[in-house]
Amino acid sequence: MSARIISGKEISQQIREELRKEVQELKEKHGVTPGLVTILVGENPASISYVTAKQRTAKDLGFYSVQENLPEEVSESELLALIDKYNKDEKIHGILVQLPLPKHINERKILYAIDPRKDVDGFHPVNVGKMVIGEPCFLPCTPHGILVMLERAQVQVDGADVVVVGRSNIVGKPVANLLLQKRKPVGNATVTVCHTGTRDMAAHTRRADILIVAAGRPKVITADMVKEGAVVIDVGVNRIGTTPEGKAILCGDVDFDAVKEKASAITPVPGGVGPMTITMLMKNTVEAAKLWAGLPCEVG
Ligand code: GUN
Repeated sequence: MSARIISGKEISQQIREELRKEVQELKEKHGVTPGLVTILVGENPASISYVTAKQRTAKDLGFYSVQENLPEEVSESELLALIDKYNKDEKIHGILVQLPLPKHINERKILYAIDPRKDVDGFHPVNVGKMVIGEPCFLPCTPHGILVMLERAQVQVDGADVVVVGRSNIVGKPVANLLLQKRKPVGNATVTVCHTGTRDMAAHTRRADILIVAAGRPKVITADMVKEGAVVIDVGVNRIGTTPEGKAILCGDVDFDAVKEKASAITPVPGGVGPMTITMLMKNTVEAAKLWAGLPCEVG
């Protein structure tokens, strides 16, 4: 039987409607408009498309939003000066620097320069540290989105064997960490992380009740690597070509057509984890605005 599709697009729409109401209330009752700046360096096509989508969503939800486009050759000190400007800007509650950055810029130095109270990506070590010990903080958007998808799709996570493929700081490490925490309603799982040093990847993935794939390689997970009835979350967004109209053709890290015949539930690409990442960025920005205004919030 074909798997149930967990639509990130639909879940995102529900959450965006909730956020839209919250933004309206923040404006009317408290005179606060959530403000987001997205900073793009260079012209990486994937980064341009992500940042454009983030800006479009922010505007659609009624945020104050600013887009900064910097040339590839911008110096580290110029970028640091821009971050400093937005750290001090009272209209801006969230700062996002789109990654990856050009090689001549020290990514860590840039992420460390963002005020942790405006770190809506959840990449600053203060927020990463708080996340690991289970304190309220900004959670990184993609892992947070995966947690919300599992929750809204009513997947049983407590006690489940979860296998994560990929150990990046943006997805693999944080999602593994969040799922092993004694956290309700999504947590308390037994988590294994596979990576390029893993000897027999399929031996692990075949045990998974929930398989989360963030390997960054098209269709690396084939049907023979998946247990019958598993829930499969595909984080991959691989550009495998372009349509005659110039639109990118995307595919995930999972061989969707084959794996959907074996899994009980699966996320599609596009329309799965991608929209959730953007939605959780919006959620974090609303929380950042509440934090700034001294209102009760989930992050501090
Ligand atoms: N590049 C890929 N994913 C992300 C993300 O979640 N945030 C930022 N800032 N850059 C990214």
